[in-house]
Amino acid sequence: MTAFAALPFDIDLKNKVAVVTGGAGVLGAAMCRALAQCGAKVVIIGRDLAKAERLAESINETGGFAQGMSCDVLNREALENAAAHIASTLGPCDILINGAGGNHPKGITGQEYFDAETTGKDPAQTSFFDLDMEGFKFVFDLNLMGTLLPSQVFAKQMLGRTGCSIVNISSMSAFRPLTKVAAYSGAKAAVSNFTQWLAVHLAQECSPEIRVNAIAPGFFLTEQNRFLLTDKETGALTARGNKIIEHSPMARFGTPEDLVGATLWLLSPASKFVTGIVVPIDGGFSAYSGV
Ligand SMILES: NC(=O)c1ccc[n+]([C@@H]2O[C@H](COP(=O)([O-])OP(=O)(O)OC[C@H]3O[C@@H](n4cnc5c(N)ncnc54)[C@H](OP(=O)(O)O)[C@@H]3O)[C@@H](O)[C@H]2O)c1
Repeated sequence: MTAFAALPFDIDLKNKVAVVTGGAGVLGAAMCRALAQCGAKVVIIGRDLAKAERLAESINETGGFAQGMSCDVLNREALENAAAHIASTLGPCDILINGAGGNHPKGITGQEYFDAETTGKDPAQTSFFDLDMEGFKFVFDLNLMGTLLPSQVFAKQMLGRTGCSIVNISSMSAFRPLTKVAAYSGAKAAVSNFTQWLAVHLAQECSPEIRVNAIAPGFFLTEQNRFLLTDKETGALTARGNKIIEHSPMARFGTPEDLVGATLWLLSPASKFVTGIVVPIDGGFSAYSGV
């Protein structure tokens, strides 16, 4: 059995029940590992049970507690069943990370700027005017409804209890939209807005202890964007990848582990008077004017 590598800080989440949607994804997996290191009982939710179970197994082998669970965050009945099962086997949910989210090729324009000359000439270069509403709907459903529905279901288990916290995952594209990704930018702006709304809504009436915050990760090389930011053959930065690095004062992409400290802080009593914020974790990208 390999021992966990020690975290560079000490946050005690012992026996807290932590539900992480999209937990087996690139960013979610780092959060699941860190939660387990802090003593939480981690439930990894995704549609692919085998993937979630593989991660759970690797966490359990290193001395933590995790279990995988198959559930679609857009299916309310499946969420209710998952929540009931978790409550009866592990206890009610204390921590919810809404990590399921992502983009869709049909919600993206082919070019950064509209160009009447080239529009309609290359079918692979979708213009704004040809964007497919199915792509938009998919991205809004997954990111916004996929955050709202698990919040409805799991926050109910937090009512009247202390030390409960929700962390949503927004994006750099929520502050100012990134070119091309029209649907994703709108959907993540909605996630940030919903984070503030729910933080206010749950701050007094239901329980003073449910805090709702979000992180806004900057740019991470993941399967979703690797070949947008780096060349498939050479691994060199693409023009878009270069632009991002030039606009990032810390001059690098993030790693999933870069998200861990701020996320644990938001989940722990160390941030007990913090609710309704969206924390950029972006190497300074959102602070930099470009000059
Ligand atoms: N990567 C980045 O650079 C970046 C930057 C900013 C924000 N983000 C956001 O961070 C979050 C995680 O991103 P990531 O890069 O780690 O993505 P990822 O690797 O694609 O992971 C997303 C996870 O969500 C799960 N998922 C997707 N649809 C689902 C559904 N309907 N129900 C339940 N689970 C579902 C997937 O598992 P199954 O396929 O098993 O369902 C997958 O494991 C997303 O919200 C993303 O938008 C990412």
